[in-house]
Amino acid sequence: MKAWAMMTLAAGVCLSVCAGCQMHGAGNAGQQAIARERIGEVDGEPVFLYTLVNRGGMKMSVMNYGATVVSLWVPDRDGRLADVVQGFDSLEEYINHNDSYFGNVVGRYGNRIAKGQFSLDGAKYSLAKNNNENHLHGGLKGFDKVVWESEPVTRNDAAGVKLTYLSKDGEEGYPGNLSVTVFYWLTMKNELSIEYHAQTDKATPVNVTHHGYFNLGGHGSGDIEDHELTLHADRFNVVDKGLIPTGELRPVAGTPMDFTKPIAIGARIDDAYQQLVYGKGYDHNWILNKQDASLTLAATLHDPQSGRVMTVHTTEPGVQFYSGNFLDGTHKGKAGKVYKHRYALCLETQHYPDSPNQSEFPSTILRPGQEYVHKTIYRFAVKP
Ligand code: GAL
Repeated sequence: MKAWAMMTLAAGVCLSVCAGCQMHGAGNAGQQAIARERIGEVDGEPVFLYTLVNRGGMKMSVMNYGATVVSLWVPDRDGRLADVVQGFDSLEEYINHNDSYFGNVVGRYGNRIAKGQFSLDGAKYSLAKNNNENHLHGGLKGFDKVVWESEPVTRNDAAGVKLTYLSKDGEEGYPGNLSVTVFYWLTMKNELSIEYHAQTDKATPVNVTHHGYFNLGGHGSGDIEDHELTLHADRFNVVDKGLIPTGELRPVAGTPMDFTKPIAIGARIDDAYQQLVYGKGYDHNWILNKQDASLTLAATLHDPQSGRVMTVHTTEPGVQFYSGNFLDGTHKGKAGKVYKHRYALCLETQHYPDSPNQSEFPSTILRPGQEYVHKTIYRFAVKP
């Protein structure tokens, strides 16, 4: 299978490197452009790589296998581009080695469901157990391992890719046929804007999110412990040693979980604080300070060295901050980079883990006639 590392695009111009590449003109989207290349097949379904460029200097590639952001090139304070997300150079590697969910959409339920079980409307459901005794990120074959239908889309201020997937009744143990649509937009304001929609014909839990691994210095450039993080959250979900919430929502004040003011991730990450011991670092769900499902600022990440800043706005009530603790150098990623311990972090906007078993948590149950809507924007800027 073909590697795509050599594909290069100049900002504002779409340079095809492939036979059969379809160009989608800028149209309303100003100098935005989209290229599409067929890169292989999975389960008899064609897999495409879309490359998008915007006039703000960013470029992004997305593949419909796993609804994956494969690369995201962002300028630093001197205008130099770096690819700030971890990933692989070929489809084959994504199929065989992406056990960490690099760049995927995860679901039906992103994060953990205790013992892979829940009850709903009087019925008991058993899900695939793929994280010791628990269910994680949708199971053995979650949304990260399926081929999504895909098409290029444009709007006035952005170019994007629309991805749709029908998760059948019973898939990985979940009830109901769930029809899911995800839009990845690259906007003219240097944003990766993601919209998720879902509908079901039977009540089911839904908690989809993007599982990008960010390093604002460029993927593979070192660990993220010098990145400064702010989380707009006064409380977090306390977990047990299997990373399942205990139900306690603990104030962050006075603990190493306090990111209400910008602080280097590495400043307290190895403190002898029980929650950090359980997570082997940060791997927790912060409860965002918000009253409703409007789009609000959840997090700000700053890399002092490159000057790159990423803000995260979301409609979701929580954010899972995972500091890449399970990365151990066994993954050789794009351009031969080795992804070592804490070389990247995830900021996964979502509901709280294990919500189907915790009646006090905001509900994740979607019912027929309702629409699941989730919007998250990762916006890139620089500081001097
Ligand atoms: C994260 C999760 C981690 C780990 C990781 C995948 O979302 O919080 O505990 O499972 O995915 O390696």
